[in-house]
Amino acid sequence: MDTRIDEIAEGIHRLSVHVPDIAPPAGFTFNHFLVRGEEPLLFHTGLRRMFPLLRDAVARLIPLETLRWISFGHYEADECGAMNEWLSVAPKAEVAHGQTGCMVSLNDMADRAPRLLKDGTVIDIGRGKRLRYIDTPHVPHGWDAGVLFEEGSSTLLCGDLFTQLGDGPAMTEGDIVGPAIQGEDLFGYSSLNPGMGATIRRLAETAPRTLALMHGPSFRGDGAAALRDLADDYDRRAQILWSATANKAAA
Ligand SMILES: [Fe+2]
Ligand SMILES: [Fe+2]
Repeated sequence: MDTRIDEIAEGIHRLSVHVPDIAPPAGFTFNHFLVRGEEPLLFHTGLRRMFPLLRDAVARLIPLETLRWISFGHYEADECGAMNEWLSVAPKAEVAHGQTGCMVSLNDMADRAPRLLKDGTVIDIGRGKRLRYIDTPHVPHGWDAGVLFEEGSSTLLCGDLFTQLGDGPAMTEGDIVGPAIQGEDLFGYSSLNPGMGATIRRLAETAPRTLALMHGPSFRGDGAAALRDLADDYDRRAQILWSATANKAAA
Protein backbone atom coordinates (compact mmCIF):
# COMPACT_ATOMS: atom_id res chain seq x y z
CA MET A 1 0.00 0.00 0.00
CA ASP A 2 1.13 3.54 -0.61
CA THR A 3 -0.30 6.98 -0.05
CA ARG A 4 -1.44 9.17 -2.89
CA ILE A 5 -1.27 12.90 -2.13
CA ASP A 6 -3.33 15.52 -4.00
CA GLU A 7 -4.19 19.14 -3.21
CA ILE A 8 -8.00 19.18 -3.48
CA ALA A 9 -8.46 22.84 -2.49
CA GLU A 10 -5.95 25.59 -1.85
CA GLY A 11 -3.87 24.40 1.12
CA ILE A 12 -5.89 21.22 1.70
CA HIS A 13 -4.12 17.96 0.85
CA ARG A 14 -5.85 14.61 0.47
CA LEU A 15 -3.73 11.66 1.57
CA SER A 16 -5.38 8.59 0.14
CA VAL A 17 -4.76 4.91 0.83
CA HIS A 18 -6.53 2.29 -1.26
CA VAL A 19 -7.06 -1.12 0.36
CA PRO A 20 -7.92 -3.68 -2.36
CA ASP A 21 -8.88 -6.42 0.14
CA ILE A 22 -11.92 -4.54 1.46
CA ALA A 23 -15.01 -5.06 -0.73
CA PRO A 24 -13.06 -6.58 -3.66
CA PRO A 25 -12.68 -6.25 -6.55
CA ALA A 26 -13.24 -2.48 -6.31
CA GLY A 27 -11.51 -2.13 -2.94
CA PHE A 28 -12.03 0.70 -0.50
CA THR A 29 -10.24 3.99 -0.03
CA PHE A 30 -9.34 5.78 3.20
CA ASN A 31 -8.72 9.52 2.87
CA HIS A 32 -7.06 11.81 5.38
CA PHE A 33 -6.89 15.56 4.97
CA LEU A 34 -4.09 17.88 5.98
CA VAL A 35 -5.14 21.53 6.17
CA ARG A 36 -2.07 23.73 5.88
CA GLY A 37 -1.85 26.81 8.06
CA GLU A 38 0.39 28.26 10.73
CA GLU A 39 -1.25 25.60 12.92
CA PRO A 40 -1.68 22.58 10.61
CA LEU A 41 -4.73 20.40 11.17
CA LEU A 42 -5.14 16.73 10.29
CA PHE A 43 -8.69 15.48 9.74
CA HIS A 44 -8.72 11.67 10.25
CA THR A 45 -5.71 10.13 11.90
CA GLY A 46 -5.94 6.89 9.94
CA LEU A 47 -6.07 3.40 11.36
CA ARG A 48 -3.57 2.69 14.12
CA ARG A 49 -1.91 0.02 11.98
CA MET A 50 -1.70 2.46 9.10
CA PHE A 51 0.17 5.06 11.15
CA PRO A 52 3.69 4.50 9.69
CA LEU A 53 2.29 4.97 6.19
CA LEU A 54 0.42 8.16 7.07
CA ARG A 55 3.23 9.54 9.21
CA ASP A 56 5.67 9.26 6.32
CA ALA A 57 3.18 10.85 3.93
CA VAL A 58 2.42 13.82 6.23
CA ALA A 59 6.16 14.28 6.76
CA ARG A 60 6.49 14.95 3.04
CA LEU A 61 4.24 18.02 3.52
CA ILE A 62 5.10 19.45 6.98
CA PRO A 63 7.58 18.77 9.78
CA LEU A 64 5.61 16.35 11.97
CA GLU A 65 6.30 18.26 15.17
CA THR A 66 4.45 21.31 13.78
CA LEU A 67 1.12 19.47 13.61
CA ARG A 68 -1.15 21.46 15.91
CA TRP A 69 -4.66 20.02 15.57
CA ILE A 70 -6.03 16.51 15.19
CA SER A 71 -9.71 16.11 14.41
CA PHE A 72 -12.07 13.55 12.88
CA GLY A 73 -15.71 12.71 12.35
CA HIS A 74 -16.34 10.32 15.22
CA TYR A 75 -14.67 7.81 17.49
CA GLU A 76 -13.93 4.82 15.26
CA ALA A 77 -10.70 3.10 14.18
CA ASP A 78 -10.39 4.54 10.68
CA GLU A 79 -11.25 8.03 11.90
CA CYS A 80 -9.03 8.17 14.97
CA GLY A 81 -7.22 4.84 15.57
CA ALA A 82 -3.80 6.51 15.39
CA MET A 83 -4.75 9.53 17.55
CA ASN A 84 -2.27 8.76 20.32
CA GLU A 85 0.53 7.94 17.88
CA TRP A 86 0.07 11.43 16.40
CA LEU A 87 0.04 12.99 19.86
CA SER A 88 3.35 11.28 20.58
CA VAL A 89 5.15 12.57 17.47
CA ALA A 90 3.63 16.08 17.60
CA PRO A 91 4.15 17.49 21.11
CA LYS A 92 2.03 20.62 20.51
CA ALA A 93 -0.86 18.77 18.92
CA GLU A 94 -4.30 18.70 20.52
CA VAL A 95 -7.27 16.56 19.64
CA ALA A 96 -10.26 18.78 18.89
CA HIS A 97 -13.78 17.38 18.89
CA GLY A 98 -17.35 18.03 19.92
CA GLN A 99 -18.81 17.88 23.38
CA THR A 100 -20.21 14.37 23.05
CA GLY A 101 -16.98 12.98 21.58
CA CYS A 102 -14.90 14.50 24.38
CA MET A 103 -17.19 13.47 27.20
CA VAL A 104 -18.05 9.97 25.94
CA SER A 105 -14.67 8.83 24.61
CA LEU A 106 -11.83 11.29 24.20
CA ASN A 107 -11.40 12.59 27.76
CA ASP A 108 -10.49 9.01 28.58
CA MET A 109 -9.00 7.61 25.38
CA ALA A 110 -6.75 10.51 24.28
CA ASP A 111 -3.31 10.59 25.90
CA ARG A 112 -3.61 14.39 26.29
CA ALA A 113 -6.76 16.29 27.18
CA PRO A 114 -8.78 17.18 24.08
CA ARG A 115 -10.09 20.63 23.20
CA LEU A 116 -13.87 20.65 23.35
CA LEU A 117 -15.57 22.30 20.36
CA LYS A 118 -19.13 23.52 20.75
CA ASP A 119 -21.37 23.40 17.70
CA GLY A 120 -20.31 26.37 15.56
CA THR A 121 -16.90 26.87 17.19
CA VAL A 122 -14.26 28.09 14.72
CA ILE A 123 -10.57 27.22 14.93
CA ASP A 124 -8.48 29.79 13.07
CA ILE A 125 -5.28 28.01 12.04
CA GLY A 126 -3.81 30.96 10.13
CA ARG A 127 -3.12 31.61 6.42
CA GLY A 128 -6.81 32.19 5.84
CA LYS A 129 -7.88 28.79 7.08
CA ARG A 130 -10.79 28.75 9.51
CA LEU A 131 -12.43 25.48 10.49
CA ARG A 132 -15.96 25.50 11.85
CA TYR A 133 -17.13 22.48 13.83
CA ILE A 134 -20.67 21.31 13.11
CA ASP A 135 -22.39 18.67 15.26
CA THR A 136 -24.16 15.93 13.25
CA PRO A 137 -25.20 13.42 15.95
CA HIS A 138 -25.76 9.91 14.52
CA VAL A 139 -25.11 11.19 10.98
CA PRO A 140 -24.04 9.11 9.27
CA HIS A 141 -23.22 7.17 12.46
CA GLY A 142 -21.94 7.74 15.96
CA TRP A 143 -23.60 9.77 18.69
CA ASP A 144 -20.48 11.96 18.70
CA ALA A 145 -20.48 12.56 14.93
CA GLY A 146 -19.47 15.95 13.54
CA VAL A 147 -17.82 17.55 10.53
CA LEU A 148 -15.53 20.50 9.86
CA PHE A 149 -16.22 23.25 7.34
CA GLU A 150 -13.18 25.19 6.11
CA GLU A 151 -14.57 28.64 5.49
CA GLY A 152 -11.69 30.10 3.45
CA SER A 153 -11.88 27.56 0.64
CA SER A 154 -15.52 26.58 1.26
CA THR A 155 -14.56 22.95 1.78
CA LEU A 156 -16.70 20.58 3.82
CA LEU A 157 -14.66 17.79 5.42
CA CYS A 158 -17.67 15.53 5.42
CA GLY A 159 -16.22 12.27 6.74
CA ASP A 160 -18.22 9.14 5.98
CA LEU A 161 -21.03 10.95 4.17
CA PHE A 162 -21.17 9.89 0.47
CA THR A 163 -19.11 6.73 1.17
CA GLN A 164 -18.44 4.83 -2.05
CA LEU A 165 -16.32 1.90 -3.17
CA GLY A 166 -13.25 1.88 -5.36
CA ASP A 167 -10.16 3.86 -6.10
CA GLY A 168 -11.42 6.67 -8.28
CA PRO A 169 -9.77 9.96 -9.13
CA ALA A 170 -8.74 12.34 -6.34
CA MET A 171 -11.23 14.90 -7.62
CA THR A 172 -14.48 14.61 -9.54
CA GLU A 173 -17.13 16.97 -10.85
CA GLY A 174 -19.40 14.02 -11.65
CA ASP A 175 -22.17 12.35 -9.68
CA ILE A 176 -21.32 11.33 -6.13
CA VAL A 177 -24.88 10.72 -4.94
CA GLY A 178 -25.53 7.60 -7.05
CA PRO A 179 -22.34 5.87 -5.86
CA ALA A 180 -23.19 6.90 -2.28
CA ILE A 181 -26.62 5.29 -2.56
CA GLN A 182 -24.93 2.10 -3.79
CA GLY A 183 -22.45 2.30 -0.90
CA GLU A 184 -25.30 2.61 1.61
CA ASP A 185 -27.17 -0.28 -0.02
CA LEU A 186 -24.05 -2.45 0.26
CA PHE A 187 -22.78 -1.53 3.73
CA GLY A 188 -25.85 -0.19 5.57
CA TYR A 189 -23.40 1.96 7.54
CA SER A 190 -25.70 4.80 8.52
CA SER A 191 -27.72 5.08 11.72
CA LEU A 192 -30.95 5.72 9.90
CA ASN A 193 -32.89 8.19 12.04
CA PRO A 194 -35.81 10.59 11.56
CA GLY A 195 -33.57 13.67 11.75
CA MET A 196 -31.01 12.47 9.22
CA GLY A 197 -32.32 14.36 6.20
CA ALA A 198 -32.65 17.56 8.22
CA THR A 199 -29.12 17.24 9.60
CA ILE A 200 -27.66 16.81 6.11
CA ARG A 201 -29.73 19.72 4.76
CA ARG A 202 -28.26 21.87 7.52
CA LEU A 203 -24.81 21.08 6.11
CA ALA A 204 -26.05 22.20 2.69
CA GLU A 205 -26.48 25.69 4.16
CA THR A 206 -22.68 26.04 4.15
CA ALA A 207 -22.89 25.94 0.31
CA PRO A 208 -19.59 24.09 -0.03
CA ARG A 209 -17.64 24.30 -3.29
CA THR A 210 -15.66 21.20 -2.37
CA LEU A 211 -16.78 18.09 -0.50
CA ALA A 212 -13.87 16.11 0.97
CA LEU A 213 -15.07 12.50 1.25
CA MET A 214 -13.35 10.07 3.58
CA HIS A 215 -14.18 7.14 1.33
CA GLY A 216 -14.36 8.38 -2.24
CA PRO A 217 -13.12 11.16 -4.48
CA SER A 218 -13.34 14.78 -3.46
CA PHE A 219 -16.16 16.57 -5.26
CA ARG A 220 -15.96 20.02 -6.79
CA GLY A 221 -19.18 21.73 -7.76
CA ASP A 222 -22.55 22.45 -6.19
CA GLY A 223 -22.00 20.75 -2.84
CA ALA A 224 -25.32 21.99 -1.46
CA ALA A 225 -27.25 20.28 -4.26
CA ALA A 226 -25.38 17.01 -3.69
CA LEU A 227 -26.11 17.20 0.05
CA ARG A 228 -29.79 17.91 -0.54
CA ASP A 229 -30.03 14.95 -2.94
CA LEU A 230 -28.37 12.72 -0.36
CA ALA A 231 -30.77 14.02 2.32
CA ASP A 232 -33.73 13.16 0.07
CA ASP A 233 -32.44 9.60 -0.30
CA TYR A 234 -32.15 9.19 3.46
CA ASP A 235 -35.65 10.58 3.92
CA ARG A 236 -36.84 7.97 1.42
CA ARG A 237 -35.09 5.20 3.37
CA ALA A 238 -36.49 6.46 6.68
CA GLN A 239 -40.00 6.59 5.23
CA ILE A 240 -39.74 2.95 4.08
CA LEU A 241 -38.48 1.91 7.50
CA TRP A 242 -41.19 3.76 9.46
CA SER A 243 -43.93 2.48 7.13
CA ALA A 244 -42.72 -1.09 7.59
CA THR A 245 -42.63 -0.60 11.36
CA ALA A 246 -46.13 0.92 11.42
CA ASN A 247 -47.52 -1.90 9.27
CA LYS A 248 -45.99 -4.48 11.56
CA ALA A 249 -47.45 -2.79 14.63
CA ALA A 250 -50.88 -2.66 12.99
CA ALA A 251 -50.82 -6.32 11.91
FE1 LIG B 1 -17.24 5.87 10.46
FE1 LIG C 1 -14.72 6.28 7.82
